[in-house]
Amino acid sequence: MSESTLILIKPGGVQRNLIGTVLSRFEQRGLRIVALKRLLADRATVEAHYDEHRERAFFQDVCDYLCTGPIVAAVITGDNAVKAVRAMMGATNPIEATPGTIRGDFGLTIDDNLTHSSSDPEAALREIALWFPEGVAER
Ligand code: CMP
Repeated sequence: MSESTLILIKPGGVQRNLIGTVLSRFEQRGLRIVALKRLLADRATVEAHYDEHRERAFFQDVCDYLCTGPIVAAVITGDNAVKAVRAMMGATNPIEATPGTIRGDFGLTIDDNLTHSSSDPEAALREIALWFPEGVAER
């Protein structure tokens, strides 16, 4: 079933010129990039994005980090896109991520784990609306 998910390329990935490398993997897999922007995230949007983690010890640090430099937000669409993209990212902690995944190939620490992707279809709808309030043309 075709569905959409939200991905972020975090400041470290943008700084390391990995935008094309990361996005090309989705296209090679047969998924489509239906919305894409590079931006300096504002703190309120980042806090809303990570709201489920508000009580976690790392909440302030991860929000600070997302605001340290430009990020890329994209909507990725295709069959089983949420699960497919999660699997392609690999484990949240890059040191536990399998080689061949994005984090397993390009990351080393959980604080700079390169990318984010929506955890489930409900989160995807919420995160897409948050980062693309102008809407997404899916055709
Ligand atoms: P992400 O998928 O963007 O979701 C929450 C982020 O918090 C996570 O990736 C990591 O970058 C960061 N983080 C830092 N410490 C932890 C932790 N102990 N568990 C989960 N996420 C963490």
